[in-house]
Amino acid sequence: MEQQKRYGHFDDQHREYVITDPQTPWPWINYLGNEDFFSLISNTAGGYSFYKDAKFRRITRYRYNNVPMDNGGRYFYIKDGDTVWNPGWKPCKTPLDFYECRHGMSYTRITGRKNDVEASVLFFVPLKKWAEVQKLTLKNESNGVKTLKLFSFEEWCLWNAATDMENFQRNFSTGEVEIEGSTIYHKTEYRERRNHYAFYHVNSPIQGFDTDRETFVGLYNEFADPQAVMEGKPRNSHAHGWSPIASHYIEVTLQPGESKDFVFLLGYIENEQNEKFEAPQVINKQKAHALIAELDTTEKVDKAFAELCEYWDALLNIYKVKTGNDKLDRMVNIWNQYQCMVTFNFSRSASFFESGIGRGMGFRDSNQDLVGFVHQIPSRARQRIIDIASTQFPDGGCYHQYQPLTKRGNNDIGGGFNDDPCWLIFGTVAYIKETGDFSILDEMVPFDNQPGSEVTLFEHLKISMDHVINNLGPHMLPLIGRADWNDCLNLNCFSWDPNESFQTTENVSEGTKAESLMIAGLFVVTGKDYVALCQKIGKADEAARMQKAIDAMIEAVKKHGWDGEWYLRAYDFYGRKIGSNECEEAKIFIESQGWCTMAEIGAEEGMVAKSLDSCKKYLECEHGMVLNNPAFTKYIYEYGEISSYPEGYKENAGIFCHNNPWIVCAEAVLGHGNRAFEVYRRTCPSYLEDISEIHRTEPYVYPQMIAGKDAPTHGEAKNSWLTGTAAWTLLSITQAILGIIPTLDGLKIDPCLPSAWKGFTVSRRYRGAVYNITVDNSAGAEYGVKEITVNGKTQAGTIIPPAPAGETFEVKVVMG
Ligand code: BGC
Repeated sequence: MEQQKRYGHFDDQHREYVITDPQTPWPWINYLGNEDFFSLISNTAGGYSFYKDAKFRRITRYRYNNVPMDNGGRYFYIKDGDTVWNPGWKPCKTPLDFYECRHGMSYTRITGRKNDVEASVLFFVPLKKWAEVQKLTLKNESNGVKTLKLFSFEEWCLWNAATDMENFQRNFSTGEVEIEGSTIYHKTEYRERRNHYAFYHVNSPIQGFDTDRETFVGLYNEFADPQAVMEGKPRNSHAHGWSPIASHYIEVTLQPGESKDFVFLLGYIENEQNEKFEAPQVINKQKAHALIAELDTTEKVDKAFAELCEYWDALLNIYKVKTGNDKLDRMVNIWNQYQCMVTFNFSRSASFFESGIGRGMGFRDSNQDLVGFVHQIPSRARQRIIDIASTQFPDGGCYHQYQPLTKRGNNDIGGGFNDDPCWLIFGTVAYIKETGDFSILDEMVPFDNQPGSEVTLFEHLKISMDHVINNLGPHMLPLIGRADWNDCLNLNCFSWDPNESFQTTENVSEGTKAESLMIAGLFVVTGKDYVALCQKIGKADEAARMQKAIDAMIEAVKKHGWDGEWYLRAYDFYGRKIGSNECEEAKIFIESQGWCTMAEIGAEEGMVAKSLDSCKKYLECEHGMVLNNPAFTKYIYEYGEISSYPEGYKENAGIFCHNNPWIVCAEAVLGHGNRAFEVYRRTCPSYLEDISEIHRTEPYVYPQMIAGKDAPTHGEAKNSWLTGTAAWTLLSITQAILGIIPTLDGLKIDPCLPSAWKGFTVSRRYRGAVYNITVDNSAGAEYGVKEITVNGKTQAGTIIPPAPAGETFEVKVVMG
């Protein structure tokens, strides 16, 4: 393919992506914050901040689907004579002499230069702090004195991001602020039930301020030309209702060569109910003062930034690969792991595609996300598993989503997605394989968060398995419920009413015959893990009971789930085949191929190999594997949302990146190293940097979907960042291809490589010990370990048993 324009480049040494043209094909964003306080920031400083929950504790306002798309954010306006400009180019869009945005690990640095003034802003959320730091450095690079007028800008959200955008008859009258020195406090609704406020501070005296948006911007002006800035005169406005904002005004004089730092701080504070006020109507600012005092000098901020960098150094030191292929190494060592942390934190709630209003944490999503993250901070993964399991129902079903702030199941969406319970096993077993911490199984965990209903986590796993067994259909295959992994395959929803939501409408669940082959495969894969777990903890009877159920499922798939060249996808409500050669459209689907092959169902009969050949033949295209083929060309009332999408988009034959790594893993099951890597490479963002104009989303993170071969915009990605693709691709490359696999019994080494690779090294911390692994593939094999030595001693088999923490092992692996 012809080389296209690039918008930046990777700087691997600093673990940054450097954007050099602000007009990227779509806002290319980053996330700040690791726990509690979070921000989204685009390459032009757009985006917003929130505390824990993007819906219920939104701190700054953001308007979705705006014109232009990315509008609103934390903006610095610099007025230098008659020229007004922003370091991030937007919103004024004054052409800059230099522009650069460096997205790094939980920080972003945006630098602009205009008329010999450089403005560089470092944005980050210090560890364990509820605040976003914006360290602005202004430098005079001219030979004369520069006198500049600097305006900062943030727009407050009235906390609940949903009602903030709709309940205007109330909102326009509630806004309240306080101003004290260089700090602007946002205290809307603090007078009543809220015990939290926010503030925007700068560590220098100010010569003016504004807190009322209309006064600052002007009713007929825009962020691009706020009246106060254009006239170089703050209004010192005090917001009463309407839209409170925070803007500082600072006059800056710089000698030739001189530079000055300003530390801006956007903070969030919670107070005890009885300590809310220091005087009638005056908020208690003690905690705010204390937080400001921790970050009010360049030195303190630089120290906090160094701590953040050390934190990421430590996290990314846990797993490091060297293959000699930069595109691959930077994904595995930096960006894919980073994206896993972000998806772990946010599930599918807040991105430039997810509004932060609609969805909380997904049950299945979070269980998958933690698999990409568990090696980094296992204690947080552990807590997450407990939180997720606490939203389960006593029959093993579960809420499909829960709100991060309350940790309560989300009633708007409810339950009934029959794959969900299996994922709890998937997540929990991955945690134990990584940590060896079997004690998690003894944790007492409630149902639906009801105190008094607690049973052990193991019991939750058991009822999860049972939920599948207790909900089998006429072919003894799992009933699908509202949907399985594919939220849009709604086989029990018969809707002709455009006002109904597919996913929450379940018109006919009684008497359904709709069964899922995807759940069947998932049940076998997770079931095998469950059985191994039971054996490990001395529950032989339970292991035997479940093995029988797995064997029966395997038989049912072989008997009723095989179409001749591939696995069927499902049976519909009436018991008719879906994903069969007999079907008019959508004859083959990827999900059941992925799961039934990973489960190795019918391997001896050649089903696994045939299924993968069919994937290559019917699903693969230049940009990855599509979800189904051929695409649906019309709405099918019995199938629901899947057929509502135009051909090639989303679940209707889009390249759903999440399930491509399933095929990678399946190819590895057969030892097909060349194929496994080929499938991996097609959707890997760093390999797509040269087609940014087609691909459009960030070249450093995975999108959820790339338009499939039937789409007019084939190759165009959407929904970047928050996708199960992150965890799954990391799993597929680190475990299926590189073959460094945590198991219940220790670290297994079993690579499956492209034959052209001569070898690679991995350094990996596992259960506290460090393994420096060198794989020698001078034999040019795709699969097969000939010999493993550990500290010079030959190792029998491929599993290295767990070693005492703190030890280091030199592991040499010879393939062939
Ligand atoms: C959801 C996943 C789902 C996938 C496929 C995503 O938007 O978050 O839970 O598996 O779509 O429908």
